Amino acid sequence: MQTARQVVYRRFDAQDPAGVFELGEVPVPEEVAPGEVLVRIAFALVHPCDAACAMGVVNGVELPAVGGLEALGVIEKIGTALTDRFEVGQRVHVCGTHVFGRWKTWRGVWREYALCPPEALIPVPDGVPDDIAAQLVVNILTPYAMVKEMGIGPGDLLLQTAAGSVLGQVMIQLGQAFGFTTVNVVRRQETADMLTSRFGIDTVFVYDGTNASAAAAEKAIGERLAGTPIRFAIEAVSGQTGRFCLDLVGPEAVVYFYGILSGDLMVPVDVVSDLAMKNNTLKGWSIQETWMRKTPDEVKRRYIDELWELIQEGKVTTPPLGERFPLERAGEAMTASFRQDKPGKIVLVCT
Ligand SMILES: NC(=O)c1ccc[n+]([C@@H]2O[C@H](COP(=O)([O-])OP(=O)(O)OC[C@H]3O[C@@H](n4cnc5c(N)ncnc54)[C@H](OP(=O)(O)O)[C@@H]3O)[C@@H](O)[C@H]2O)c1
Repeated sequence: MQTARQVVYRRFDAQDPAGVFELGEVPVPEEVAPGEVLVRIAFALVHPCDAACAMGVVNGVELPAVGGLEALGVIEKIGTALTDRFEVGQRVHVCGTHVFGRWKTWRGVWREYALCPPEALIPVPDGVPDDIAAQLVVNILTPYAMVKEMGIGPGDLLLQTAAGSVLGQVMIQLGQAFGFTTVNVVRRQETADMLTSRFGIDTVFVYDGTNASAAAAEKAIGERLAGTPIRFAIEAVSGQTGRFCLDLVGPEAVVYFYGILSGDLMVPVDVVSDLAMKNNTLKGWSIQETWMRKTPDEVKRRYIDELWELIQEGKVTTPPLGERFPLERAGEAMTASFRQDKPGKIVLVCT
């Protein structure tokens, strides 16, 4: 009997999520049910939301669980009911939940083999590189779905924090493709320099949490935008940076809070000056908690097709992937994903 390795966790740890992982071994299924597909996973990403799962703050994760939200795989076996939809040898994006349909639990992708329902698989067109395809849902579909929901377009301004993240870099490219200007806030000058040279933009500003940088960034943004109000913002850091973001937007702004990179869950909001006097809207946003659960499948399929086109046209790409770890070092991989100067997304090599 052939066996396969997988990264399991049997407990949550809010303080040390990287410490919960262990390597397990399971049989590779010999039979595939009519409505299932057997996928060999090539590699998976290590995302902030994987840490959130191990911390126990994500809905639908049932212990014992397998880690990981997204990966790239190759189809090995197809159930009899699905032979007209998939091909053996086809490359697929594999989601640890379901991208399509209704779903409740996570299955995880940090494993050598995954038995998947079709709702968890997205076939990858020829011409899309593995490294980009593997990141399709978390950091490419997320900003795209936000842009669509906001209805943002030519002449609009969108402020974003943690703009050097993969998601932030995709948003800059969506701005260039759709004609809106991104106003990019980062915490380090090196990241600002990288974005400026990579995308040829002059709208990157450094806010490092100090009052001096807040004043300097606010002044520079005011001068660069010549007082044009910022009506859209996406905020991934929370805490003080969330507060800084609120100081920059409005009136009539919509601010999407979608991440907690600082680890601080709180953003102080002044009901009078932030909300009532500016008529701003503050909104939570999560691809897996809400968007994938409530969006009709035909909309998801249309957005994904549009993204494949943007990727094939070279209008959307992702920065090079970073350090690669074997499955048995999943905990170290997660610790490396927290590092400030990591050169790219951390990868778990599965097979
Ligand atoms: N809600 C959703 O649906 C959803 C979906 C996708 C992603 N996200 C969130 O989006 C964010 C980015 O995800 P990603 O995978 O693209 O991340 P990533 O590429 O790993 O993010 C690294 C970037 O974040 C910056 N950063 C890290 N900690 C920071 C802090 N405390 N203050 C300011 N900047 C900080 C880093 O700045 P330096 O360059 O200075 O190191 C770096 O540019 C995460 O919060 C993630 O949870 C949410």
